[in-house]
Amino acid sequence: MASASAATQVLEVFRYSPEQDPEPHFQSYEVPFHDDWVVLDALNHIKDRMDWSLTHRWSCRMGVCGSCGMMVNGEAKLTCAAFLRDYYPKPIRVEPLTGFPVLRDLVINMDDFMEKLVQVKSWLIPKEPRELSQGEYRQSPAELARYKQFSMCINCMLCYAACPVYALHTDFIGPAAIALAQRYNLDSRDAGEQQRAEAIQADEGVWECTFVGECSKVCPKDVDPAGAIQQAKMAGAIDWYKALLPRGKG
Ligand code: SF4
Ligand code: FES
Repeated sequence: MASASAATQVLEVFRYSPEQDPEPHFQSYEVPFHDDWVVLDALNHIKDRMDWSLTHRWSCRMGVCGSCGMMVNGEAKLTCAAFLRDYYPKPIRVEPLTGFPVLRDLVINMDDFMEKLVQVKSWLIPKEPRELSQGEYRQSPAELARYKQFSMCINCMLCYAACPVYALHTDFIGPAAIALAQRYNLDSRDAGEQQRAEAIQADEGVWECTFVGECSKVCPKDVDPAGAIQQAKMAGAIDWYKALLPRGKG
């Protein structure tokens, strides 16, 4: 391991300002190497000490906000969880998450995902109207356990960047939006599954997924969006089969 004082590491950083650059290009920066630095620390060092024009997005630096996702040597990663030491002494190539339009440098446009969250109605649709005076909805630990894993999503978009289907068809609703739809479908307080089915069971919904599984591999929160998609496929298949049965048999 290199000593922290003298060692350096090169970051090759994607640069692009669509309004002025005809093409993206890479810019190299030599940053100090520290054993406990993550790629985000190096980017912040560049921004603070070397080149204020570099644009990247981050907030929490602790794997919670989901805003620092980028391609690190071709893999979708949270840059606040990607240590320089795992790449040292080789250069590290940092690019925006693949599959999304670039707003500037390392910042992607997430509008498409925001629209998909609306399409799948990723919010609680209560079984019946409830007044505040009725107090909180209570759930048992078992009811919470049914959906808790899917509720851990931090909207980091790593799963979209890793998904080969989304790379080819951006109409695909995609892993995180489907996992978040399942999060509510499995919630004992919710009655919105049929409303969500319109988007989820459409061609661009779960049936576009070819179950490559990369989304679950790259997910930093173990949400398992691939598992959510398979659950939703199963639910759709059961509904379809029930609809074929004579009335009263389903
Ligand atoms: S499912 Fe995982 S990888 Fe996808 S957006 Fe949510 S936290 Fe990120
Ligand atoms: S900075 Fe918040 S998840 Fe990395």
